[in-house]
Amino acid sequence: VYPLSFMDSDGDGSGDLQGITSRLDYCGWLGVDAVWLSPIYPSPMVDFGYDISDFTDIHPLFGSLSDFDAVISEARRLKLKVLLDYVPNHSSDQHSWFLQSRSSRSNPYHDWYIWRDPEPAGGPPNNWLGAFGGSAWEWDENTGQYYLHSYLKEQPDLNWRNPGVQQAMLDVLRFWLDRGVSGFRVDSIAHLMKDTQFRDNPVNPDWDPAAGPYFRYLPVHSRDHPDTAAVIRRMRQVIDEYNDCVIIGEAYLSLERTAAYYGAGVHLPFNFGLITSPWTAREVHRIIRAYESLLGPDRWPNWVLGNHDRHRIATRVGRDQARVAAMLLLSLRGTPTLYYGDEIAMQDVPIPAELVKDPWEINVPFLGLGRDPERSPMQWDSTHHAGFSTATPWLPLASDFNRFNVATETQEADSVLNLYRRLIALRTEKPALHSGPYGELFCDDHVLSYSRQSEAERFLIVLNFTQEPKTVDHSGLHGRIILTTALDRNYEPVAGKLLLRPDEGVIVEVEH
Ligand code: GLC
Ligand code: MG
Repeated sequence: VYPLSFMDSDGDGSGDLQGITSRLDYCGWLGVDAVWLSPIYPSPMVDFGYDISDFTDIHPLFGSLSDFDAVISEARRLKLKVLLDYVPNHSSDQHSWFLQSRSSRSNPYHDWYIWRDPEPAGGPPNNWLGAFGGSAWEWDENTGQYYLHSYLKEQPDLNWRNPGVQQAMLDVLRFWLDRGVSGFRVDSIAHLMKDTQFRDNPVNPDWDPAAGPYFRYLPVHSRDHPDTAAVIRRMRQVIDEYNDCVIIGEAYLSLERTAAYYGAGVHLPFNFGLITSPWTAREVHRIIRAYESLLGPDRWPNWVLGNHDRHRIATRVGRDQARVAAMLLLSLRGTPTLYYGDEIAMQDVPIPAELVKDPWEINVPFLGLGRDPERSPMQWDSTHHAGFSTATPWLPLASDFNRFNVATETQEADSVLNLYRRLIALRTEKPALHSGPYGELFCDDHVLSYSRQSEAERFLIVLNFTQEPKTVDHSGLHGRIILTTALDRNYEPVAGKLLLRPDEGVIVEVEH
């Protein structure tokens, strides 16, 4: 859930905690197990909450600590877990730690952030870049030094090599765990430790300018440093002081490097294979095969179709194919992560220049990197402002919210929303689909199929990635259809050949 855009309870156009509490029953109805909230902490909102000025309080825009406690107790009533976003790599430049850090070189907090002298000839200490454009170093007149910011200059990086920082940031985890959260999605987890010699990053020989200026250099010295594992292990120790709590890690790394974070103690390093790769049967097959073989049967995978940083699935692949994506997400082995609104087929909302909010779009325009389009308000019903707010929302609503919204789609037997609900229910009901092994079966340019099985049952999932009908020959196959992406063909028998309509996915229960 992106809290600014989920539900506004107080008519200021921005989502808030009381809004979330009032809509948690929807999450329960949908069948999810846990809700992850993007940052709700005090923040100047330069990066919409990822610039935190107090790690242990609530931004007044979202409410108060007692509103937060109400989220937790309503979630408990509904048997939902609540996960928070934990942003350890940086704070806001308005955090009291940073204000002290920059006040003088002799302030005890100075070393809580990463300060370096200029190059002898002047200029920043090295060529590292900020993820949202420009140098990762900001000159500070007062101290005569540069400070490091892996993201915006308003997001100075904390110095995790300083024991005081480690202690204070681990205490932040305890603060929220004591208040009843069940774990964290750890932001920018691969950034925590940097090269101790601050060496220049090498030039990226394959740089594609369309990917943005950040990738001009390969961030080998500024990201994914070997010392990161040790600090993550300390986070994990804190988590393990509590029952049944989870660490999810956010890092856009290769599948190999992503998998390495299991070793560091992350329960679920976000697997972004499905949001960063082209959408073809062969490519998806390749990613599943690679990830399954990297992890092996004893480690538990996870899959992500969308988030607040990437264009929505229903925009990337179209609304029809997004149903196939839903079936894929919910029938693979591993924890699925679903981004609010994807379950009602919300699409990116084009943002007119004068309404752009995301600093990435402002700093690095015209490349389509801006993240406002995928952060538009949740579409609850077809009333004014889509039932999200009584006021004009902070970002514009989709123009088709009348057609695609929770109230309308609940009534429609074959809506995407009901498909998601059926898929989640089926996955909960059938151990094979929940935790059975993944069995590789068949892939060509058009169709991907695989199996999931338990001792008692076996299912075949067959997905048509194209806009044409396809016939698949699974000789020897006998069974019946238990779910299609159009929510029809129930119990249709299957023997050998299976006809798939355009953009159709099918789950077959195999007869023994
Ligand atoms: C992560 C967040 C993104 C944020 C950035 C800096 O990538 O998902 O929204 O801007 O970290 O905290
Ligand atoms: Mg509000």
